[in-house]
Amino acid sequence: MSRDRVVVVGAGVAGLATALRLAPLPVTLVTAAPLGEETATAWAQGGIAAAIGRDDDPALHAADTVAAGAGLSDAGVAWRVAEAGPGLVAWLADLGLAFDRGCDGALALGLEAAHGRRRIVKAGGDATGAAVLRVLARAAAASPSITTVVGRASALMQDEAGRVTGLVAETTAGPLALPARAVVLATGGLGGLYRTTTNPEGAVGSGLALAARAGAVLRDVEFVQFHPTAIATGTDGPLPLATEALRGEGAILVDAAGARVMAGIAGAELAPRDVVARAIAARTSRGEPVFLDARRLDVARRFPTVAALCRAAGLDPALRPIPVRPAAHYHMGGLRVDGRGRSSLPGLWACGEVAATGLHGANRLASNSLLEAMAYAPLIAADIEATAPAGPGRAGPLSRPAAGSLPEIRALMEAEVGLVRHEAGLARAVRHLAALARAGASEGIVGLLVAAAALERRESRGSHWRADHPEQRAPRPTEITLGQALALAETVADTASALSRSSLLPEVP
Ligand code: SIN
Repeated sequence: MSRDRVVVVGAGVAGLATALRLAPLPVTLVTAAPLGEETATAWAQGGIAAAIGRDDDPALHAADTVAAGAGLSDAGVAWRVAEAGPGLVAWLADLGLAFDRGCDGALALGLEAAHGRRRIVKAGGDATGAAVLRVLARAAAASPSITTVVGRASALMQDEAGRVTGLVAETTAGPLALPARAVVLATGGLGGLYRTTTNPEGAVGSGLALAARAGAVLRDVEFVQFHPTAIATGTDGPLPLATEALRGEGAILVDAAGARVMAGIAGAELAPRDVVARAIAARTSRGEPVFLDARRLDVARRFPTVAALCRAAGLDPALRPIPVRPAAHYHMGGLRVDGRGRSSLPGLWACGEVAATGLHGANRLASNSLLEAMAYAPLIAADIEATAPAGPGRAGPLSRPAAGSLPEIRALMEAEVGLVRHEAGLARAVRHLAALARAGASEGIVGLLVAAAALERRESRGSHWRADHPEQRAPRPTEITLGQALALAETVADTASALSRSSLLPEVP
């Protein structure tokens, strides 16, 4: 395998868009499943936010993004991504994506929470992710510069100086070493670490674990967004989603008696996601069910994916409100990257949900994620093109899955590192997850990083709500490495001493 190759890990929107933008550079795309399968992109019911309407402007889109980010979004990044929106929609249309249009042939623009304008571009009503995935996977399969390897990334290769020089993938034929001039992680999020999630089960932060073991710096990892309206099917694990666009079009949240759950709360159904999610959780945690009443919308026609998911769960949204509950949905934090998608490790880039560009801050604005991945893909490709091929490397420690401990990690993350957090619970999670991380479990590593950063953020901001610290402090991002998280765990003894311990993490200016 040539060292001139670029290895891209992950075949959702971020991986596929990066691989396509790298053409004609040779790319090996490492994917856990055949192209088009088992990726969170396919589940995205929202759309792509883009300032296309006559009343809109990228500056307004950027301002909404920054406002949702609760003090931690980078305004420059928000502007750059918002400005790219209309051009990226045109790029997808050129690749053959049939966006939803009005009678006049113009793009139909939807509304979602915390957007000040109608700017959500969609395909198939609520099937945008699947449509984007289809066109990108088709283009990648037809591209002579992209070779696909089905396998799971198990370790990064590094040279003596720490530069990433390739990747080891576990395939059905055994471990495969892939030397590369650059590695791009596009491995998605970590919702699968929670007992209830809108993500595929395999979304357990595998890319974060690989990079953290290699010494990478992570940013804002404590910020996990809970989607307010997963469909409460009564089961654990991945839950089907009732898209926020339903609320954008007038669906309301009600209790069992039909009374409005969001009455008296600023923004009501279209308040920021964390606000809506906590309002629902306040009821469901007392055993009071909450429902999304979409009876006055034509769900079957306008939201065919939601209609099919309801049908599969034995629900009919035309007849009865849909039972809903919050579930882990999106990870705002991730591998710290700069404006070119470079991580702190030379030779390693990251794109999409695994990366923390500074766009989302403490709370992602709906339908900004497909957009962000596509906006960074060409920046990453241009940067890699300008870098020299790497020298030889050796494999770092191999990643091990958390044999048998995933159900335990999921229960712990849900209970202690979920929508509402407090010091004692986070300290308990840190101690437990550190033991699993030391034993080499990659899911333990990721859980530990999230719990440690959450323990260190003694304030409430965006998606991170500390019951013991409802106040806000001066906004600052969190940066953390695996070494720092493990060192922090050493200091977190039993609950009482955890309450008086001083911070080990350095302040970020
Ligand atoms: C949704 O459709 O509600 C999800 C969209 C998103 O998370 O951006």
